[in-house]
Amino acid sequence: MNFENDFPMKKENVIYFDNAATTFKPIFVMEEVNKYYTKYTSNVHRGDYNISFTVNDLYDLTREKVHKFINSRFKEEIVFTSGSTESLNMVVFGFFENYLKDGDEVLLTKSEHASNVLPWFILSLKKNIKIKYIELNEEHKITKENLLMSITNKTKVISIAHITNVIGDERNIKEITSIAHKHNILVVVDGAQSVPHIKTDVIDTDIDFLAFSAHKMCGPTGVGVLYGKLNLLKNMLPYKYGGGMNEEFDSEKLLLAEIPYRFEGGTPNIEGILGLKASIDYIEKIGIEEIHKHEIYLKNYLIKRLREIEYIKIYNENSEGAIVLINAENVMAGDLGLYLNSRNICTRSGIHCAKLLKSEEELGNTVRISLYFYNTYEEIDILIEALKDKEELYKFVK
Ligand code: ALA
Repeated sequence: MNFENDFPMKKENVIYFDNAATTFKPIFVMEEVNKYYTKYTSNVHRGDYNISFTVNDLYDLTREKVHKFINSRFKEEIVFTSGSTESLNMVVFGFFENYLKDGDEVLLTKSEHASNVLPWFILSLKKNIKIKYIELNEEHKITKENLLMSITNKTKVISIAHITNVIGDERNIKEITSIAHKHNILVVVDGAQSVPHIKTDVIDTDIDFLAFSAHKMCGPTGVGVLYGKLNLLKNMLPYKYGGGMNEEFDSEKLLLAEIPYRFEGGTPNIEGILGLKASIDYIEKIGIEEIHKHEIYLKNYLIKRLREIEYIKIYNENSEGAIVLINAENVMAGDLGLYLNSRNICTRSGIHCAKLLKSEEELGNTVRISLYFYNTYEEIDILIEALKDKEELYKFVK
């Protein structure tokens, strides 16, 4: 697979291994965004003229596209947001703030991203609920036994990533929802690191709420999705009030717009949403299974080459996602990141937003190499060459 011509950023003088943070955008996506600016700039669902009708159609087509992409039952179950963070905040404060009662328990893990931890923390300040953590095994993974041990008759929600952004472990969501639902527990899934990489089927996995972002799947920044089962969305309150989300109001009463519009108050990121449609078209053209397969080949090759370097430590060889965490002996992760930057190699170093993991000593500070389908074996070879240049590396970090 050669993506040089599709991604202008591939022609810049950088090797990009920070795909868990955000991804490059193909020209195809940029053109769709640009078309909105140059051919039919107008608001959505508000204008009685042709260019606005065009935007309405494209906007609705995007919803249709996302609905099919994640295999939801109804397209109304797709809510556009500004990203995974907003989606998760919407669920916590729009749904669970009312749903949870005194003494109820929320189950998380210590490897969750900040967006799947902080809203729950804030909710626990407003309500008498308890946050608990599913214990992780020595590879920082969830096991069925540990999950079962964490569940009590007070547990009402499990909120976890499908693939985590630091360790890159993939959770068995189907098994987790099946256990959870037997105990009347709802499951919220942070799909920011999974939807761009593996097939997501919300019916098969029986997920109750799913959050993900466009920018991690070749789409624009500032756009995301919240999927929720329709019967749950019916009990969710809007998180933003304003234009577009009401059917009717006067000083006495407010009639909410239909689902999902009631959750999309204000002018949305229209061009970004149209760009999301293009990014899904692009991903579907390559095939999500192909994407995953290629990433895993790359990851296995990367690990094999990293093992050649005796002063490099790899932390997550057995994780399933396209993420590899490393450190060099006696080198601070931040310094290693800067050294790689001096070779035009982009990685991320530090604790990577999952700050509860700092209690896991060794994972406190690492360099994260996160791959996507447009990365190549040659790029990995250049990274390995830079890491193998021991003299330069240790001179740089001195
Ligand atoms: N959550 C993003 C990351 O893991 C920003 O880098």
